Amino acid sequence: MSFSKPYTLITGASGGIGFELAVIMAEKGHNLIITARSEEKLNNIARQLIKNHGIDAISIPADLSKSTDRNRLIDEIRRQNIHIENLINNAGFGDLGAFETSDWVKNEEMIQLNITALTHLTREFLPDMRKAKSGRIMNVASIAAFMPGPLMSVYYASKAYVLSFSEALASELAGSGVKITTLCPGPVETGFQKKAEFKDPALLKMLKPATAQELADYGYHSMMNGKRLAIHGWMNRFIVFSLRFSPRWVVARAIMKLHQ
Ligand SMILES: NC(=O)c1ccc[n+]([C@@H]2O[C@H](COP(=O)([O-])OP(=O)(O)OC[C@H]3O[C@@H](n4cnc5c(N)ncnc54)[C@H](OP(=O)(O)O)[C@@H]3O)[C@@H](O)[C@H]2O)c1
Repeated sequence: MSFSKPYTLITGASGGIGFELAVIMAEKGHNLIITARSEEKLNNIARQLIKNHGIDAISIPADLSKSTDRNRLIDEIRRQNIHIENLINNAGFGDLGAFETSDWVKNEEMIQLNITALTHLTREFLPDMRKAKSGRIMNVASIAAFMPGPLMSVYYASKAYVLSFSEALASELAGSGVKITTLCPGPVETGFQKKAEFKDPALLKMLKPATAQELADYGYHSMMNGKRLAIHGWMNRFIVFSLRFSPRWVVARAIMKLHQ
């Protein structure tokens, strides 16, 4: 079976972790399809990556929370006869605040982006990877996936979905040549906190966030090594490990305090 030129599709590549992943993938010689909503930013990034690294980079702007936009992205990839050899489902956002007073439209957009888009793109591009007997999918979750998150309940729950879905898929695909990695960052310095309306920069500093570059570098190597579960940093690994010995209501209370 012969496939056209292989590409890596990265969602949320206009900034933060997704942008840094795009830079690393380009440095390593991968052709890219980058997507997010900000068209101008994406076009500039694609131009720079082509110029600096001699790869091909195609920018396809899309609001991935909308099924029409996702279908347009998929149709465009099919139209250009592109084979997706690596898929990085990175786009996502959170929102801080009590659920009962939260903005429903924002909640729905978060569920559509963090859960539906990731599942949809995986369903679309996995069969061709299976046929090629090779491919990599990296789904960006969070250490939030391991715990309930009062005052950010929908976000934490969306990441629990990403973790459960990806781990299940990794087992379904064992021996197929397709590897699934779940990337779980702790706090990372990006536009994420501002978008989620975090108000306490001192608290964030105390949590010692990683840089987007560090996280992307770790994510890249984890994906290339076919690591199933990639939790960034010893402190985050320790937190996740210690959760095994803590009642979930105690954890929920601690997270609530952190977010208050
Ligand atoms: N930063 C952290 O502390 C942290 C911790 C754990 C996990 N994560 C996860 O890491 C991933 C990347 O986050 P980040 O920290 O890099 O955040 P970021 O700097 O806010 O970047 C988010 C990216 O997603 C894109 N995006 C947002 N809404 C979109 C939509 N509706 N359709 C298409 N693209 C959309 C944004 O581009 P446009 O605005 O141009 O659309 C941007 O490129 C997320 O899944 C996040 O949950 C982050």
